[in-house]
Amino acid sequence: MIPALAVNRLIPLVNLESPKPMRSHYCGHVNEQLIGQEISVCGWVHHRRDHGGVIFIDLRDREGVLQAVIDPDTATAFALAERVRSEYVLRATGMVRARPVGTVNANLPTGGVEVLLHTLEILNTAQTPPFQLDDVSVQEELRLRYRYIDLRTERMRNNILLRARVARFFRHFLDDAGFLDIETPMLTKATPEGARDYLVPSRTHPGRFFALPQSPQLFKQLLMMSGFDRYYQIVRCFRDEDLRADRQPEFTQLDVEMSFVDEHAVMDLMESMIRTLFQEVLDVALPDPFPRITFEESMHRYGSDRPDLRNPLELVELKDVMQAVEFKVFAAAATDPGKRIAALRAPGGGALSRKQIDDYTDFVAIYGAKGLAYIKVNDLAAGREGLQSPILKFLPDPVIEAIISRTGAQTGDVIFFGADETRTVNAALGALRDKVAADLHLVADAWRPVWVIDFPMFEWDADNKRWTALHHPFTAPYADEEVLVRDPGTAISRAYDMVMNGSEIGGGSIRIHRSEMQQSVFSLLGISVEDAREKFGFLLDALQYGCPPHGGIAFGLDRLVMLMTGERSIRDVIPFPKTQTASCPLTSAPAAVGEMQLRELGIRLRRTESPGGN
Ligand code: AMO
Ligand code: AMP
Repeated sequence: MIPALAVNRLIPLVNLESPKPMRSHYCGHVNEQLIGQEISVCGWVHHRRDHGGVIFIDLRDREGVLQAVIDPDTATAFALAERVRSEYVLRATGMVRARPVGTVNANLPTGGVEVLLHTLEILNTAQTPPFQLDDVSVQEELRLRYRYIDLRTERMRNNILLRARVARFFRHFLDDAGFLDIETPMLTKATPEGARDYLVPSRTHPGRFFALPQSPQLFKQLLMMSGFDRYYQIVRCFRDEDLRADRQPEFTQLDVEMSFVDEHAVMDLMESMIRTLFQEVLDVALPDPFPRITFEESMHRYGSDRPDLRNPLELVELKDVMQAVEFKVFAAAATDPGKRIAALRAPGGGALSRKQIDDYTDFVAIYGAKGLAYIKVNDLAAGREGLQSPILKFLPDPVIEAIISRTGAQTGDVIFFGADETRTVNAALGALRDKVAADLHLVADAWRPVWVIDFPMFEWDADNKRWTALHHPFTAPYADEEVLVRDPGTAISRAYDMVMNGSEIGGGSIRIHRSEMQQSVFSLLGISVEDAREKFGFLLDALQYGCPPHGGIAFGLDRLVMLMTGERSIRDVIPFPKTQTASCPLTSAPAAVGEMQLRELGIRLRRTESPGGN
């Protein structure tokens, strides 16, 4: 869908004041306008073809590939060209000419021309690479071990170039909007974003540890208290959490904070930034404005707080009509306030085989669903006779009518049901909604951003019998303190997430700026006064020295670039990523360290690692 660099502008080769520059052009920039000119290019041998009398070398650099031709008449160059192998590094000088008729390659920007060399220099040789650059079946482990070679592939090069363009766009946009690029510490104290910390032992304070930041959250708030008014940073964050295709232990945020604003100001500016980004980099016009949906409505309609709006399917509520049915699973859920009964219509799903439906049942089981009741609509006009379902016999006519009319089911559809704890139904049917739409090819080829707003402040953690913060504990509620403390379960936060095509690309909030409110939220979260002092004393103090109302947001840069390049894994847009098990095959990090180093840090290991640390 997304030609990543469809509108990538050429970045000119700047030859700084050098009296004798090594090259005059990037390989990828040589085109018809240069015909008849002498040029010098440098790059890697992409392919070499020996056509009897003539040798062709495709020379590659950051900007693309150029065909060089070496004739036996230029004896020295020809002799060198005969020795050249893949990935040798060359400098080549010659005359640009039009390719002979019939040899033009319309798919390449340089495909109309070639350069006839008179001089060739081998700047360096290369061993045979561990894999072919055009082989798409290379194991990821091998790609990551030789990442510097993997990054030479067109796909990876385009991804990294696009990433650089996105970062450059953000800097320009935010600089122009009066934001200051300010750094915050990497060696710091734990900040609660909900993951485990990466710890760094202190040598000068034996037994003490720094934490690498999960985000610059508290520092950017402090910068607002210092009066810097508008801050941004493209910043690395560290979270030791279970990795998935869209998560890395170290990842990059575009982090933003503003003073004297409400949520509308933050959302409007950030939305316009993302809209301009898509326009400039991908030539895509995003909707103006982005739709906004409350958390409650999103869970209700999509079973998820990061709905993919390219998917037309929606969950349908059925609890009210199931009050008196005989099917015990539905009857039990219908009268329990903590439970939900919902349906999902799969248009054309009647063609699904028994086996496919069983597979869906296994799929929802991953999310805790105990079953997946369904009705196949074989012939809508035939009434009950036209329906096929293991649970049909339990459902009286009015219930069936309500199901059909609410789901809008048609002949040839199948309707799936979930009845369970609300959380389970949402997770299971929300995921099924994505899967069914993908399987039935219902997902539109489009960009569909949405703001999700009005999140609950707190979630009840039934296992540990306590409230937890849905976002971080510095998020402001709409309610005043008295109402908040009286009824934490209904409190709504001033938080907002930006979701694009089902992926959470950014999230933020208006912050608490009064110390009493911050204390109350800590105490609701079960953080004792002593604990709060210990962990966040500096913040509580700072709140008492003149804190402006403020708020902000952070975007996941990697995730955003992953979406924009159409990649499925965040690792494919990060130059040197970690594997699924949070290690680096290139450097073999993490690694064991010597006894001396541990001793210096005052650390004794509980059990010895195998040498090499893997
Ligand atoms: P949050 O935790 O929502 O908010 O993070 C912001 C964005 O960062 C991205 N993200 C990740 N990307 C890759 N790998 C990860 N492990 C990972 N975790 C998060 C997501 C997410 O939307 N301090 C707040 C922001 C604020 O309130 O201003 C914060 O960090 O795209
Ligand atoms: P049972 O009565 O357990 O044989 O279930 C009858 C049908 O209901 C089967 O198709 C099950 O997959 C389905 N089912 C069972 N539990 C649930 C549930 N909690 N939600 C939705 N469907 C269910």
